[in-house]
Formats: sequence, structure tokens, C-alpha cells
Amino acid sequence: MIEKLPNLDYWKNYFLQNQSNLAKIDWSDNDLLSEEEIKCISASIAKFQLGEYSEGKKLIDFCDKYAQKHEDKTIKQITTLFIKEEQAHSYLLKRFMESNNIDTLKRDWTDNLFRSIRILSGYEMSITVLISAEIIALTYYDALSKATQSKLLKKICKKIIEEERNHVLYESMLLKSFNMQRIRLSQLVITFAHKCLFSCTVILVLIDHRAVLLKGGYKLYSFWSKNWEEFHKAFD
Ligand SMILES: [Fe+2]
Ligand SMILES: [Fe+2]
Repeated sequence: MIEKLPNLDYWKNYFLQNQSNLAKIDWSDNDLLSEEEIKCISASIAKFQLGEYSEGKKLIDFCDKYAQKHEDKTIKQITTLFIKEEQAHSYLLKRFMESNNIDTLKRDWTDNLFRSIRILSGYEMSITVLISAEIIALTYYDALSKATQSKLLKKICKKIIEEERNHVLYESMLLKSFNMQRIRLSQLVITFAHKCLFSCTVILVLIDHRAVLLKGGYKLYSFWSKNWEEFHKAFD
């Protein structure tokens, strides 16, 4: 049971300041993808573009309950700003895809699966699912950036990675503070469950996005180990 929230002012300031940078990219370098690149990345980038977009109603709902319980309005404000950052990632990818005639996706089973887990759980579980996807996104966007010659796509990936890194820091801080309120045995069980979820997600992304990952220079083991390196960076 969560007793108290950490000081969130730093994160409120970060999200407020970064608002003016959202979707800010120099589009003048719009060098189009080659046919080979489009073939390799289009299905994959479309899934990530879909995954980045959410209206976040359920997350706001969960967060609202916590905010009321802890009499802290800051976490709700941060969550609203966080959702806007994610939507900006989706917008950047969509604009890039449209300029390269890559179709967007309306739905995808992996996206549906993760949305369902988030909707059916609570605030902490939602954050756990989100951070798992975001840690993996760090390596995915690195691979995507290396899989293309497009300077514009490289810039978009760099920007998303920078912002995802902050999301991972913010969410790991929240999860660590939630977990610290528990007895040791519960902490170990929660950490184990999170590691299982993370492992399954890494394997799923590896299978589903292998073409981009391989083109970006990752092999099965290097993708797996890079993700665990990022996981430990976030939680150790
Ligand atoms: Fe994102
Ligand atoms: Fe994120």
C-alpha cells in the first residue's frame, strides 16, 4: 500500500519546460526513404506510431484516485503533460510516415494486449506496463535510427529517445517509491513479476520487429542484453 509520494516538483518543471519542445523538429531535411528501407521499416514504425498514441483517459482516472488519496495535485498535472509528450511522439512518426506514403495502423493485437492489461489493472500496474515498453523503446529507436539513411528519421529517433529516457527516469522513481512502502517479501515478488513481464515484452518485440532490429545492427543476444542493461540502469 502506498503511503506517500516522492517530491514531484522536479518532474513537474521538466514536463512544463519541455512542452515548448514537443514535436519541434527541423523538417527541411526530409530525405525520403528508399524502397528497401520502406519495405524493412513500414510495418514496424506503424506499430510504434500506434503504440505512442493514447488519450490516456484510464491513466488519468487511476492517477486521479492517487492524487485524491495523497492530496497531491502535482502527479495529475505531470500525467497530463506526460500523455501530451507521448502524443507528440505519435504525431512526429505519423507526419514522417505520411511524407513517405507509409500507412498508419488503426489497431494491432500487441497494442490491444498491452492496452487491455493497463485498463484492467491499476495505476501502479499501468506505470509498470508503460515503463517496460519505454525501456524497450530506447533500444528500438536506436535500431531504427541505425537502420535508415534518412537524417530526418534519425533526428526523430534521437528526440524520442531523449524524452523516453526522462519518462523511464520519472516512472522508475515512482515505482521504486511505491515498492519501498512494502515489506521485503512483497518487494521481491513484485520485482520478479515485473522482470517476467519485461522478458516477455522483449521477446515479443524481438519477434515482431526483427527486420528493423537486425538492420539496425542488433542480434538476438545483443538486443536482449541491451534491454536488460537499460532495465538495471532504471531500477538498480
Ligand atoms: Fe513515447
Ligand atoms: Fe514515453
